[in-house]
Amino acid sequence: MQETVWWKRGVIYQIYPRSFQDSNADGIGDLDGIRRRLDHLVWLGVDAVWISPVYPSPMADFGYDVADYCDIDPNFGNLEHFRALITEIHERGLKLIMDFVPNHSSDQHAWFKESRSSRDNPKRDWYIWRDAAPGGGPPNNWVSNFGGSAWQWDEATGQYYYHAFLREQPDLNWRNREVCEAMHDVLRFWLDLGVDGFRVDVIWHLMKDEQFRDNPPNPAYVDGRPEIESLLQIHSTDQPDVHDVIARMRHVLDGYKDRVLIGEVYLPIDRLVTYYGRELAGAHLPFNFQLLQTAWHAGRIAELIDEYEGSIPDGGWPNWVLGNHDQPRVAARVGEDQARVAAMLLLTLRGTPTLYYGDEIGIGRVAIPAHAVQDPWEKNEPGLGIGRDPQRTPMQWDASAKAGFTEGTPWLPLSEDHRTRNVAVQASDPTSMLTLTRALIMLRRRSPALSIGAYALLNAKGDVLAYERRCGHDRYMIVLNLGGKEELWNLPENVTGEIVLSTTLGGADQDVADEIRLRPDEGIVIQCHR
Ligand code: NOJ
Repeated sequence: MQETVWWKRGVIYQIYPRSFQDSNADGIGDLDGIRRRLDHLVWLGVDAVWISPVYPSPMADFGYDVADYCDIDPNFGNLEHFRALITEIHERGLKLIMDFVPNHSSDQHAWFKESRSSRDNPKRDWYIWRDAAPGGGPPNNWVSNFGGSAWQWDEATGQYYYHAFLREQPDLNWRNREVCEAMHDVLRFWLDLGVDGFRVDVIWHLMKDEQFRDNPPNPAYVDGRPEIESLLQIHSTDQPDVHDVIARMRHVLDGYKDRVLIGEVYLPIDRLVTYYGRELAGAHLPFNFQLLQTAWHAGRIAELIDEYEGSIPDGGWPNWVLGNHDQPRVAARVGEDQARVAAMLLLTLRGTPTLYYGDEIGIGRVAIPAHAVQDPWEKNEPGLGIGRDPQRTPMQWDASAKAGFTEGTPWLPLSEDHRTRNVAVQASDPTSMLTLTRALIMLRRRSPALSIGAYALLNAKGDVLAYERRCGHDRYMIVLNLGGKEELWNLPENVTGEIVLSTTLGGADQDVADEIRLRPDEGIVIQCHR
């Protein structure tokens, strides 16, 4: 077990820093707040913490618009606070993964200010500037991910610049050598401070078609969906030469010991796995978001696991994600009971799991009143139901007025159930989601089969999904009831075992042979006898 590198064996926990813990009563979480809560993470049993961006930022996209890649935003603290945080993280045996946002900076970054100052500024080519189309108007039909044209006219210099996200987030030009080198220096800055890896924002966006050809219309586009879906992003993303750019980033990390490169990639499985890179010189873990996008159906999930497992290149390591700051919370999507089953799935599949803060207590659907909306995407394309605020509400620590998150006014409303759904209440409840999450992590940690063993599908029939994890004599069967009715499931012939964990947190320590009765919405882990 010791030989397997930490990012394969471990569980990653994502923190959205604005919402984790406030330490200075301004209603916004910060680095000292995270530091105060590290013991929760140790108790929970996770191995690594990924923090969404904490760099200086005008916060047009809440930190994904970076104004300085080598400092900390005053909302979150300063570099001293960061040093204290990383020291305490390492003292507890945890790892720290930074968010790295290389595709675009803020329009307030000094580089962009220079770039836009004149056409012959030395940094002009650091961003993507183009003349208007021959008849006037934007250079091509590319659409911003947050709606509207992806091109912004700059009156002063008479050209358009490209922004895949907000106009306050101009895309950097990764075809420019100096940009690559400046960004590699940024990586080294944080690696030298001791960070254990990076989650790279929209890594599949970094290179664009050299000719900037129009994207074709999406024939499957459905009215009422976000505008970005109206075109197939075949020229604006996922270009073949992006892999050279990633390999060079990876090379920087390889100069340090045991650092991890994670890539954010929203692509179908066959494209996703190319991000392991040629000869595995790309991302160690191209984030696998398939579970977030698949119907909650046993057969469909079984197929997707098989497709994913069958597509990973030799030597590549899988990973699974059930929630993040961009996607509706799992409990909001599949319901509270199935969220327990989903946690069991996440924490018993083969590959590194990433757990999103708050999912361990089952935060569900949070209503955000119109006056409280913060998400710029929701503001740009209101009413489509794409707002990301509901999954970014403050962490619920205890039953006090502001849930222990802040003494001020939280920047987003707390979920209404915070007095009953919180860490303090659930930590002392032997049947809570938190107790379950912790038990799953503990089980995974102690078992070679569950943490690094092989995966095999047993069967998927009706609402039941069953699979096996195995490493030598260590062997487990996981049986998940994805439906609300009682189900019967038969152990394979010649297998006997013991239920060591149920999502209901009852009925464990039970010997089983032959037929097993699963309660509605119940998942179980069976440890097989030899
Ligand atoms: C992906 C991030 O996860 C999301 O929150 C952000 O808005 C975009 N990239 C732009 O950086």
